[in-house]
Amino acid sequence: MSEQHPGFETLAIHAGQDADPNNGAVITPIYATSTYLQDGVGSPRQGYEYSRTRNPTRSALEECLAALEHGARGLAFASGMAAEDTLLRTLCKPGDHVVIPDDAYGGTYRLFSKVAEPWGVAHTAVHLPNVDAVRAAVRSRPTAVVWVETPTNPLLAVADIPALAEVAHESGALLVVDSTFASPYLQQPLTLGADVVVHSTTKYCGGHSDVVGGALVTADAGLGERLAFHQNAMGAVAGPFDAWLVLRGLKTLAVRMERHCDNAERVAAFLQAHPKVGQVLYPGLSDHPGHEVATKQMRRYGGIVSFRLRGGAAAAIEVCERTRVFALAESLGGIESLIEHPGRMTHASAAGSPLEVPDDLVRLSVGIETIDDLLDDLGRALG
Ligand SMILES: Cc1ncc(COP(=O)(O)O)c(C=O)c1O
Repeated sequence: MSEQHPGFETLAIHAGQDADPNNGAVITPIYATSTYLQDGVGSPRQGYEYSRTRNPTRSALEECLAALEHGARGLAFASGMAAEDTLLRTLCKPGDHVVIPDDAYGGTYRLFSKVAEPWGVAHTAVHLPNVDAVRAAVRSRPTAVVWVETPTNPLLAVADIPALAEVAHESGALLVVDSTFASPYLQQPLTLGADVVVHSTTKYCGGHSDVVGGALVTADAGLGERLAFHQNAMGAVAGPFDAWLVLRGLKTLAVRMERHCDNAERVAAFLQAHPKVGQVLYPGLSDHPGHEVATKQMRRYGGIVSFRLRGGAAAAIEVCERTRVFALAESLGGIESLIEHPGRMTHASAAGSPLEVPDDLVRLSVGIETIDDLLDDLGRALG
């Protein structure tokens, strides 16, 4: 391994994960301990005093995430929403204004509309691919944060991270990027000008649908320290077993993402040619409005494909209930393929809001199974 510039795969397997100095264990142990023996009053060993504040398994994951995102500090949380809440309450105070996407994970919108807004933090939802519209919203009133999700859940809109970083920074706002759909392998927002990256590690980072977790990575060490203070003060930390599962998932992230992308590209092309499908939303398609920006800032286009049915909501629900390899379930980013109806499932909380999704929409999380089985399954379900 090049000691100077280790590659992504090398960092995913080794960063923050030196062999145990006591016994040589190659894999970071699950430190199932709440507290630590101190050598004297106020003399914790290596800074470990209580596991809400620091835990060695979590520290390994946090270091690894920081390395993969080229950040100064990584922090691991109990869920993506716990990470978002901690970030929001660190960066904002009552009276502040935040620009948010007009398409985003339903739970993120719920956090802004049902939790942050009653607390006194106002938001404006903007179509993020329209940089001028974001600039106008940021300039319309003092803005603390521009909150980006790219690609977005579930409509796969693509936001231009460097352009939005410039818009945010010229007005003194911070740029936050939820990069969950891309994963650290396909997109590294801090290298494009973002201040903080958010991940639901439940998704591609964990990768096996067996853990719920979240992460923040900052470009700036000072902001990382403020977030670490709030992480400890609020306490929504990742437990050691959960941290270990995500750490194990990261080791294979690169190879999994390549296969997710291979399969998703085939699925998108298959759906585009199907007479019952009205529109396929996938940034890898050359006619996708965000294709050019995605090509500039992403390694490939990801494993999520959404599509709209010519037959409307009833047809969309029918397809979701007819697949056999694609499991009807919420979430995404695991090795197995999932199908869902966002309007009635993950995004039900956005109904009646500017983030409401079309009811003829189906979202696929394309897994890493044999591609012919996935195409057969979709073909059968579409009829
Ligand atoms: C883009 C995005 N961000 C954040 C979250 C929230 O993460 P979690 O479910 O781990 O709390 C999700 C969950 O689906 C998501 O899709």
